[in-house]
Amino acid sequence: MNELKSPPRLSNSLYIGPLLGILIGLYVNWLVGALVGTVILLAALIMTSDLAYTVATNVAQGTWTFMSRLAAKSEEGGTYSVEIGVDEITRRKSHVPINKGHIGVYGMTQAAGKSVLLHQLVMGACQKLSPDDVWFYGIDLKTGLDIFNLTRHFRLPIANSLDEAAIILDAVEQIYDERDRLFKRWSGKLTCENIDDYEAITGERLPLVILVFDEPAGLEKGSRKPIYDLLKKLVQKGASLGVFLWLSTQRPVTENLSRSISAQFAREFVGRMSRLSELTSVCELDLDDARRMMRLARPGLFYDKVSQTYVSVNWPGSRRLWRDMKNDFAAKYAGKPKEWPVARSELRHEESWFDECVSQADDDDHFAAQVVVYRVYRDWCTDNEIESPLKRRELMKFLREDHMIYTSDSGYHDGKAARGVRGWEFSWE
Ligand SMILES: Nc1ncnc2c1ncn2[C@@H]1O[C@H](COP(=O)(O)OP(=O)(O)O)[C@@H](O)[C@H]1O
Ligand SMILES: [Mg+2]
Repeated sequence: MNELKSPPRLSNSLYIGPLLGILIGLYVNWLVGALVGTVILLAALIMTSDLAYTVATNVAQGTWTFMSRLAAKSEEGGTYSVEIGVDEITRRKSHVPINKGHIGVYGMTQAAGKSVLLHQLVMGACQKLSPDDVWFYGIDLKTGLDIFNLTRHFRLPIANSLDEAAIILDAVEQIYDERDRLFKRWSGKLTCENIDDYEAITGERLPLVILVFDEPAGLEKGSRKPIYDLLKKLVQKGASLGVFLWLSTQRPVTENLSRSISAQFAREFVGRMSRLSELTSVCELDLDDARRMMRLARPGLFYDKVSQTYVSVNWPGSRRLWRDMKNDFAAKYAGKPKEWPVARSELRHEESWFDECVSQADDDDHFAAQVVVYRVYRDWCTDNEIESPLKRRELMKFLREDHMIYTSDSGYHDGKAARGVRGWEFSWE
C-alpha cells in the first residue's frame, strides 16, 4: 500500500466492549463476561488501526482480482474448454470441454468440415494446455493431421498406415491399462473413480490422453475388426481414466462404426449429410431438426447433438489462410522430431540369447524345465549386462510363439513333472 491513512484516534466506542462484556457476564457469569469483553476490545483495536486498513484493502483487492479472473475464465470456458466456433442462432462463442468425454464428428463424404473441426480442437487444446498436461496421439490415413507431426503435445508421429496405427493404438492401450491398474490399486483402500479423484487422493495430476482418429473408414474392411475392438475397449472406461477418443467418420452407426462405440461419445457433431433419412435414422435427429439441418447445411456447420444447437466452426476464410494458420501454429509449438519406437523384435534381446545358448537336441525327447531355461537366460543377461531382462512369463511366451515346443505335462524337474520346452539343449554353464 503506498498511501496509508494515519491511524484514527481511539474512540469512545472502545469502552463499549468491556462494558458489553460485563453486562453479558452479569447475565451469564463473570468469566464468560471477561472473555467476551476482551474479544470485543481486541476487535475494536484492530478495526481502528493501520493494520486493519491494510488488511481490509488487501482483502478487497484480492477478492476483486479473483472475481475478474473467474469472469475471464468463464468467458473463455475454463482451462479444459476449447472454443470451436459460434452458435449459429445466438451468435455466442461455442466451447467444447475436452476433459469430460469422447467426441464424435460425423458428416457426409465430401467436405463437411470434419477435419477442420478436429484440427481446431487440437490447436485449441494445445494452446491452453502444456505438453505435460495433454498427450496427443494421431491417426490419419489421409495425412491431413501430419501438420502436427512436430507439435510437442503429440507423443509419437502421426500414423498414416495400418502398421503405424497399430503402434499408436498399442501405446494408448498401454496407458489405459496402466491407469486401470493404478486406479484399482487406489480403490482397494479409497475410492478412485476418475482422474479428478486420483488427483484429490494422490496430489498428482495425470495428463489427459487424447487419441485423434480422422476417418477410420479409410481402413480396409478386413483390418477394421481388431481396431474397432480396441476402440470399443478404450471408450468404455477411457473417459474416467482420462483417455479420450476424438473420432471423425462419414458413416456413423453403420458397419464402419458400431453403436457400442458411438454410444459412449459425450459430444457428437453432425455435419451435412446427403439424405434426410441419414440424419433421422443414423444420427437420431428428429424430423424438424433434420429438415433444418438439410436447409442450413454447408461446410463447417454442425448440429451439436448434446446441446441441440448449431455450431458454425471457426474458419479463417480460405484454404490458403487455413494452411498459413496451421503452419504458424506448428512453428510455434514445434519440438524435436519424433521417432517411431523400435519394433518389439528389434528392441528385445531374446534373439541373440537364443542363438548363443540354444541348439536343437539330438533326440526329440530332450526336455528342459522352464526354471532351468530361465536360469540360463538370466545368467546370459548378467554376462551381457542386459538392463531389463524379460520376466519369466514373457520369456516363455516368446519361446512358445516363435521357437519351441512348449509342454506342460512331461519331463521332470527335481523329481516332479514340470513345465518346459522340448527338443532343445541349453549350452550354458
Ligand atoms: N468451418 C468451415 N467454414 C467454411 N468452410 C469450411 C469449414 N470447414 C471446412 N470448410 C471447407 O470444406 C473443405 C474441406 O474441409 P474438411 O474438414 O477437410 O472436410 P472433411 O474432413 O469433412 O472431408 C475445406 O477445405 C473448406 O473449404
Ligand atoms: Mg477429412
